[in-house]
Amino acid sequence: MQRLLLIVSGSVAAYKALEFARLARRAGFSVTGLLTAGGARFITPLALAAITGSRVHGDLWSVEEEAQAGHIRLARDHEAIVVAPASADLIAKMAAGLADDLATTVLLATNRPVLVAPAMNPTMWAHPATQANVETLRRRGVAFAGPEEGEMAEPEIGLGRLVEPPALLEAVRAMLAVGPLAGRHALVTSGPTFEAIDPVRFLGNRSSGRQGHAIAAALAGLGARVTLVSGPVCLPDPPGVRVIRVESAREMLAACEAALPADVAVCAAAVADWRPATETATKIKKVAAAPPPTISLAENPDILAALSSAGSRRPRLVIGFAAETENVVAHAKEKRARKGCDWILANDVSAGVFGAEENAVTLVSEAGAEVWPRLAKTEVARRLAARIAEALR
Ligand code: C5P
Repeated sequence: MQRLLLIVSGSVAAYKALEFARLARRAGFSVTGLLTAGGARFITPLALAAITGSRVHGDLWSVEEEAQAGHIRLARDHEAIVVAPASADLIAKMAAGLADDLATTVLLATNRPVLVAPAMNPTMWAHPATQANVETLRRRGVAFAGPEEGEMAEPEIGLGRLVEPPALLEAVRAMLAVGPLAGRHALVTSGPTFEAIDPVRFLGNRSSGRQGHAIAAALAGLGARVTLVSGPVCLPDPPGVRVIRVESAREMLAACEAALPADVAVCAAAVADWRPATETATKIKKVAAAPPPTISLAENPDILAALSSAGSRRPRLVIGFAAETENVVAHAKEKRARKGCDWILANDVSAGVFGAEENAVTLVSEAGAEVWPRLAKTEVARRLAARIAEALR
């Protein structure tokens, strides 16, 4: 059994740490709780002890514990340390290497993987001091999950919310590479592609990358090693995932081919079907009274079809998406046959799913079409990851 040390610091989001502890135990981890003085103002040691089923730590100066070098044991006796929620203050102390309470001392004394889930006011998160501290910690190998965008406790909206407990559990499993997909390599494409017209202009599309990024996170959450090849998006890198950033379809194809072999490939990117036939080396000038230029297009490579026909390098399972506005399932079936992939997730984009939080999909496979209820994209991703784990077992 993998043992987690859960450090809870002072944030109103501390209550979510209880839910995380519950989920982690249900997923087979043992959890030891450690409350900072700030954390203990938001949740009680009793609540954390009841949910973790073990004694909660908090005092560096406990004679009883330190007789057995308690802080060193806490630092070493767990497979990973999860700091959730991590306040701006605790992150600053970690970056500075301070050790003035039990949490910071343990964090300085550990050689175990550490995952930090920040939660704070958006202005505090955006502050250059916090950002510099986060950068310092990242460089030292500390992993981060979140924060997320959304409504805060105070009437404010922005980046600073603690990640939701299921996503935090995914990040822990990704960091430890435990789960049914441990030892497997998953390749995921996500986001739009940008096809250059000239050095400043491009043809693109409205794909947000949310679905592809969520799939990468969910696969990593089941223990897979994940390579995410992403077009330009405004999303944070999913924790524990190797991200390769590309712009054009041709770059995306090259990055995917370089990432092979893989056990599974999920093509969730909205790849441009066409690109400008020529990319001019200099910016096209607007000339007064001249007619507007015409752009002629050339066809882009089809990444899904290329991966499906990669011969001995073909992933065992190749999965594509089909964004349609009518006859969704019929088109998906035809696309599955034409591209040679195993499964197609058909989604009705007339239902306003592009860029949205939710998705309505139908899984089309050899076995037929299976309609999934309308779900959050993160839930679609988790269902798909579970199905992939089943198929690769
Ligand atoms: O043909 P269509 O664009 O509808 O197919 C959608 C599926 O094919 C998606 O899985 C998408 O990621 C993939 N695709 C691709 N390369 C292209 C076009 C689409 O991988 N050039």
